[in-house]
Formats: sequence, C-alpha cells, structure tokens
Amino acid sequence: MFSQVVATLISLMLVAPVLASFELEIPLIVAALIQGSIAAFLGSRLGLASWWLPINLLFSPALVSALSFDVAPSWFLAAFVLLFLIYWSVFRSQIPLYLSSRKAWAAVAGLLPGKEGARFLDLGAGLGGMLSYLDAQHPNGKFSGMEIAPLPFALGWTRKIATRGNYSLLWGDFWQYSLAGQDVVYAYLSPVPMARLWRKVCEEMPSGSRFISNTFSVPGVEPEKVVELDDFHHSRLYVYRVPARQEMDAGA
Ligand SMILES: C[S@@+](CC[C@H](N)C(=O)[O-])C[C@H]1O[C@@H](n2cnc3c(N)ncnc32)[C@H](O)[C@@H]1O
Repeated sequence: MFSQVVATLISLMLVAPVLASFELEIPLIVAALIQGSIAAFLGSRLGLASWWLPINLLFSPALVSALSFDVAPSWFLAAFVLLFLIYWSVFRSQIPLYLSSRKAWAAVAGLLPGKEGARFLDLGAGLGGMLSYLDAQHPNGKFSGMEIAPLPFALGWTRKIATRGNYSLLWGDFWQYSLAGQDVVYAYLSPVPMARLWRKVCEEMPSGSRFISNTFSVPGVEPEKVVELDDFHHSRLYVYRVPARQEMDAGA
C-alpha cells in the first residue's frame, strides 16, 4: 500500500512533468505500467517478499484494464471484500493463503508419532485440508488447527461438517495460543515469522516433540530431517526436534 501511494506520487510529481516537458503523451496503460514498475522497485527496496513484486507491478495496469471494460463499481467492491476476507491480516503478517499439497499431507501423516492419541496442531490451517486428511488416516489422533482469515476458516468449517471431521478448527491468532502439550506442530507460513515462531515452539512445546515446517526453514537451526516432496513446487518439509531446556541453555 505504502509503495503504491509513493509510486503514484512520484509518477504524478516527477515522471508526468518530465514527459510533459518533452511534449510526450503516453497511453494510460503505459502510465500505469510506469507507476507499477516504481511501486515494485520500492516494494523490493522496502524488503517485501518476492511474491509482492508482480502484485505491485500489475495492480495499476489491472485496474486501468478493468476500467476500460466498463465494469460496474459493485464488482470492484465485491472483489475487494472477497480478497479482504481471504487475505485479512496479510499486510501485517506477510503470510498469504496457499495450500499444502496432497503429498505434503501424506508425508506429514507418515511423520506422526505412533502413540495413541498423539496431538497435532496446524498453525494457520487454511481450508483445513491437512486436518481432514490426517483425521481420516489416524482416527485416534487429536488434531486441531487455528485460522485467522474469516473466509478460509468458514470454508474449513464447512468441510469439517460435510466430512463429519473429528478435529477442532479454531478461529484466532496462533500467536495468542499456547503450543503446550502438542506432539507435532505443523506450519506452512512464510519466511517472515520463522525465527519468532521457533522461539515460541522452544518455550512452549514439550522437549522431544516435533515442529514441521513446509518450505520455510528456521534460520540458523539444523533440522533433524528434511523430507523432499515430489509435488508441484518440489517442496520440502523441515522437521525439527524441540530441544530440552538444558540443551537450549547449553547452546545459548
Ligand atoms: C500458507 S497458508 C497454509 C494453509 C494450510 N496450513 C495448508 O498447509 O494448506 C497459511 C495460513 O495461515 C493463516 N495465518 C496467518 N497468520 C495467522 C495467525 N497469526 N493465526 C492464525 N492463522 C494465521 C493465513 O490466513 C493462511 O490461511
């Protein structure tokens, strides 16, 4: 948002006067592309994750193209509300919605401890696909997930009811939720929260339990195991064993 506003100001206050001084008239879509390039550049200089680059670049050109098709304003409002309900706090958390593959579900199922009633928590459960799969594979497990965005949460609930899932899906912020007593915590988030999340894991999870992160490793911490998934993104599961407090104190 900030980079879009600043890019618009730069375009209006610097680029437009320069073009005018050369008596150059450019089509609106080219002006939008110039603004988008400036926004993308600013975004990357501000340290935004790489997936923001195409969003910043194409936001204004997409708006200009849509306006040229004479689309009713209510469609823009509907699209905005829909995106807001899906992405909710992504501007703050920098954790968007994308879903674990079926191969990730199966690999995580294979990593669960054999003990009866093992407790598993999906941090940012999305549409609840992982929970639904694990529940079907391990009827004796205690599976739960937390999701903060309203629309994915509502869809996850619909899935749970439709499949009569025996797991819990909570609406809320996982940073406010204790990880105590979990045998396995799974996260598929983004690079941004990993260091902070690892501190929370080490403070709250029992020693010897497992933290599994899809795709995003914990900086500076050696995983116990890395599982290569032959899925579309060639993702990896990073499996970490939660150290005992003495091990942490010795490593500090
Ligand atoms: C990349 S998706 C992963 C979805 C699901 N775990 C899966 O593997 O298919 C990350 C999810 O985390 C949610 N999320 C981000 N920050 C959160 C928070 N603080 N508390 C709960 N959910 C959060 C997002 O809304 C998004 O749906």
